[in-house]
Amino acid sequence: MMIGFYDIVGPFVRLLKQKKARSLAIKGLKWGLVPRPTLFNDPILETTLWGLKFRTPIGLAAGFDKNAEVPGQLLAQGFGSVEIGSIDSKTAEVVATRLIRRKKSYSHPGIIGINILKDKLSNDAIAEYIHCSKAIAQCADYMVINISSPLVPELKAYRQQDKLADLLSQTRSALNENTPPLLLKVAPDLSDEEKKGIAAVITKQKVDGLIVVGPKKTENVGFTSTELVAQMYTLTEGKTPIIAVRGITSGQDAYERIKAGASLVQFYAAMVTKGPAHANRLAIELAELLKRDGYTNVSEAVGADHNK
Ligand SMILES: Cc1cc2nc3c(=O)[nH]c(=O)nc-3n(C[C@H](O)[C@H](O)[C@H](O)COP(=O)(O)O)c2cc1C
Repeated sequence: MMIGFYDIVGPFVRLLKQKKARSLAIKGLKWGLVPRPTLFNDPILETTLWGLKFRTPIGLAAGFDKNAEVPGQLLAQGFGSVEIGSIDSKTAEVVATRLIRRKKSYSHPGIIGINILKDKLSNDAIAEYIHCSKAIAQCADYMVINISSPLVPELKAYRQQDKLADLLSQTRSALNENTPPLLLKVAPDLSDEEKKGIAAVITKQKVDGLIVVGPKKTENVGFTSTELVAQMYTLTEGKTPIIAVRGITSGQDAYERIKAGASLVQFYAAMVTKGPAHANRLAIELAELLKRDGYTNVSEAVGADHNK
């Protein structure tokens, strides 16, 4: 087996704290120190959602390239999409300027989502989401209203149907009609009642997609990440595209989430432990699994477990 760049630097990176590892990886990508893999391209992985063509359903989760420093370099490593952020009102303008510049420079193509999270110190969540949405509406392929962060506990209030409906409808109506698809990112520690309420609101408000964060393996919540995806798929009657995130480290993990109902998957942790080119490896594994089971395109496998 060939020894890759990350086989050599990976063990050192893994010794560092998450924050240090991330800033080192961003510098490496920026300065061109991380070799680019030969991208695995296979039409079996191509999928179109919200009118956007994803080269592969494997994306980078929010939190890594918070300020849009290296989106082109990340796409060139094998991700089909990169979710920038979370941004807040302090960083929205900087991120927008960078992404507009990127568009003009025709950097590596691919889908760019932007994730918005209310700043801990701001006391008007809706105003903050609206401000950020307006700032980035022209440069995001999709945008995410993130109410999943454990670092902003007051966001738990937006799990209630009326508050969530208010947040989403106010954000939507503050933007003009040319807005990118609007997605909602939710936490894993939801009660059954909250899950039902969220599903009802996103269906009614025509939210374009749902990012489902699964529980950590160590969190004993009584269901797995795949089971949570399946639950949300059932509650939304398969009508709202789902992006599954948590613990995706192999093509098999991605395939399980897709069969449970996810249209796309994302990872973060494996980026730090295995390096950015891991997205390309996962794509190869996922394509093999789809072909083994007779699929001609990944979209046919979405929710396949529900038709058994
Ligand atoms: C250090 C770190 C920072 C993160 N920052 C964000 C963030 O800013 N916004 C967000 O929506 N999620 C953030 N996340 C969560 C990830 O996007 C993802 O949902 C979570 O890590 C689960 O995926 P994984 O198991 O592949 O890491 C962060 C995660 C980590 C580990």
